[in-house]
Amino acid sequence: MTDPEAIGDLLAAFRRDAAGVSSRPAYEALKGKYVNRDHGLVPALFARLKELSGPGKAEFGKRANEAKREIEAGLAVCEERVRAAEAAARAARDEIDVTLPGRPSPLGGLHPLTAVRRQIESVFVRLGFSIADGPELETDFFNFAALNFPPDHPARDTQDTLLVSADGPNGQPEYLLRTHTSPVQIRALTAHGAPIRVLCPGRVYRKDEVDATHSPVFHQIEGLVVDRGITMAHLKGTIEAFLQGLFGRDTKVRFTCSYFPFVEPGAQAAMTCFLCGGAGCRICKGSGWIEILGAGMVHPHVLRVCGVDPEVYSGFAFGTGVDRLAFLKYGVPDLRLFFENDLRFLRQFRSAG
Ligand code: DAH
Repeated sequence: MTDPEAIGDLLAAFRRDAAGVSSRPAYEALKGKYVNRDHGLVPALFARLKELSGPGKAEFGKRANEAKREIEAGLAVCEERVRAAEAAARAARDEIDVTLPGRPSPLGGLHPLTAVRRQIESVFVRLGFSIADGPELETDFFNFAALNFPPDHPARDTQDTLLVSADGPNGQPEYLLRTHTSPVQIRALTAHGAPIRVLCPGRVYRKDEVDATHSPVFHQIEGLVVDRGITMAHLKGTIEAFLQGLFGRDTKVRFTCSYFPFVEPGAQAAMTCFLCGGAGCRICKGSGWIEILGAGMVHPHVLRVCGVDPEVYSGFAFGTGVDRLAFLKYGVPDLRLFFENDLRFLRQFRSAG
């Protein structure tokens, strides 16, 4: 390659090669082919120059330098094209399509027992009740004695008590896990005196084997109203408002006699079955009624223990099971589902709150 035409051929070849370059590897290959110091075609051109002499050498040298400049400029153009293509590819990859629908993050929800407790609380808050709390580890005094269960009273047997320490005063166990929320009545009334309108939700414990309808830990809600002139009619109206608030306006309530040491008279309230409306079905076991709570007029002894004069004040109280209400409201077939916290079960109640 010593004649000037050969330089023209080299340039023509470069233009052809350069036209097809659109990627980084193709660009690197082009660069290697033409300008690599060891085997590139342009350095080879200059190597030939050394072998020439005479007037042809100057002409060849001039043409070779022009060719070198054109090839270098052509490589720069190629590199710029490759860089632009890479930037465009990067932009396309990173582009955010703002028209795509968003990916929702999973939302939690209230546990069904919490949802039902809150629904009950909201009914009572609207009726002017405040919410009170009490300890789960109780003394015999608050759980039993103050509620008119004397030490050897047989009604204590119905409570399946879990004792924590057995050596309290008078040979009675001193600490126990509260068997009902009724001790919070005593604490609230003793602390605030009359008049009072209070709702006490909480966890309670009994020595029960776990099965579909029993659990050693469950939840109750206690209500207490003490004021001048409170009668059984107030109790009935309140319970009706409560059950209608939770199960619908058509719910009817029936009271029958019952016995609890801390109320006189004591009553058991049942409501018409929300599923069959009273006709009889599997939920109400064919009777049309569902037993739902214990209630009554606060016993004068209980008022006295709390420092309230039963000649001036009277009151009513009631207690009900939150788990049972949730069980019925949502038609849950097994109480254990509420405590196992299997997300597949809980997710069904996501909007229950
Ligand atoms: N504490 C009772 C129980 O757990 C329920 C109860 C009955 C509460 C009558 C009351 C009441 O306040 O008046 O079985």
